Amino acid sequence: MIDDIAQKVSERYARAAATGEQMCCPTGYNFNDLKTFIPEEVLHISYGCGTPAGLDTVRAGETVLDIGSGGGIDCFEAARRVGPSGRVIGIDMTDTMLEIARRNAPIVAKNLGHPSSNVEFRKGIADTMPVNDGSVDLIISNCVINLAPDKRKVFREMFRILKPGGRFTISDIVADQTVPQYLIHDTEKWGDCLSGALTVSDYIGGMVEAGFLGIHQIKTLPWQRIDGIQFLSITLTGYKLETVQPNGPSRFATLLGPFSKVTDELGQSYRRGVAQQINNRTARMLSAPPFQRLFVLSESPTILVESDPGWIAVLPEQKPCVWKGDFAIFTGPFIEAEDDDHHVFLRGTPLEICSKTLKVIATDHYQPHFAVINRASEDVAGTAVSCAPGGGCC
Ligand SMILES: C[S@@+](CC[C@H](N)C(=O)[O-])C[C@H]1O[C@@H](n2cnc3c(N)ncnc32)[C@H](O)[C@@H]1O
Repeated sequence: MIDDIAQKVSERYARAAATGEQMCCPTGYNFNDLKTFIPEEVLHISYGCGTPAGLDTVRAGETVLDIGSGGGIDCFEAARRVGPSGRVIGIDMTDTMLEIARRNAPIVAKNLGHPSSNVEFRKGIADTMPVNDGSVDLIISNCVINLAPDKRKVFREMFRILKPGGRFTISDIVADQTVPQYLIHDTEKWGDCLSGALTVSDYIGGMVEAGFLGIHQIKTLPWQRIDGIQFLSITLTGYKLETVQPNGPSRFATLLGPFSKVTDELGQSYRRGVAQQINNRTARMLSAPPFQRLFVLSESPTILVESDPGWIAVLPEQKPCVWKGDFAIFTGPFIEAEDDDHHVFLRGTPLEICSKTLKVIATDHYQPHFAVINRASEDVAGTAVSCAPGGGCC
């Protein structure tokens, strides 16, 4: 089945590129800006499902790799950002896509005023990429990994080719529950970026298994609902940490909030306001976004109490709650986090919430860490309920 999927997917995208078919998902490109240097032929076959948000972090001179580069839209934007001293590699398995991308590379270089193109398009498969070990600063990919039959192998490849200290930002389609077999075997829907979608939990789990840390969402948007399965367009980012000696001078991390307790991917738990001794490796991770705004790192223990200005808490309203079919999906960067109303959110696992918690999650402090879906098939009027003694019901 694996070869069959890859073959069908490639044929699908060859056909789309040749005909200029419009397909796929919500993106947030500024096409007016891109038109100033990317030819229409490339923009017309943009089949991504998110913006290459990771490119906001790119520095001149870096090496960027795009998995499933298609017509090259994200590679060309990366080429502009890394400048003539940087380089961009696009990998794709479909010849028609590669031809279009290669044909336009010199045109983009000229439009950018570069002496020659700093983008190279290579034919390859995402799970065995023709790229040297530890040679890339940033991996991007836009709506591709869901199409790969063996995603875990792709995540391992990503880890192999990134430099220590490198990062990825990937936009892709995921599902709120396991996609059933009858959809998995629908090759047409596989090509539509649906059947191959993993759950958020499996997707992030595969990245952690490959060795990545600090995995969290940049953005999640609802995409399509089929037979009660909610498909989402998600943009995730994470790190391949450089090797650091685990020991060193004592360091402490104090959680500011908004969660009352969290557990990181290395298994260390933190309670809000309490100084936790950490090793060098953890200190390195907690200095990166988004951890750095959630913790105070210090050489001697920093203890916070509720009245301290740094303490962050968002308490639910004290009124009855209404269940309307909403589910919160915690998207990191922790494997587990607890709020001030006794909810324990496991990364990637939908948890049913009522109206009070929905309001908490919509606040600026919580919102970056969650995707919210609604599983009710019609509008639920809902009856107000009172929480059980001890809380925890909503
Ligand atoms: C949905 S399109 C996205 C293209 C491009 N990233 C964009 O944003 O326009 C998917 C692309 O990934 C390529 N692709 C799909 N599966 C692949 C795989 N396993 N290895 C390499 N390329 C793959 C297809 O040929 C196609 O060009």
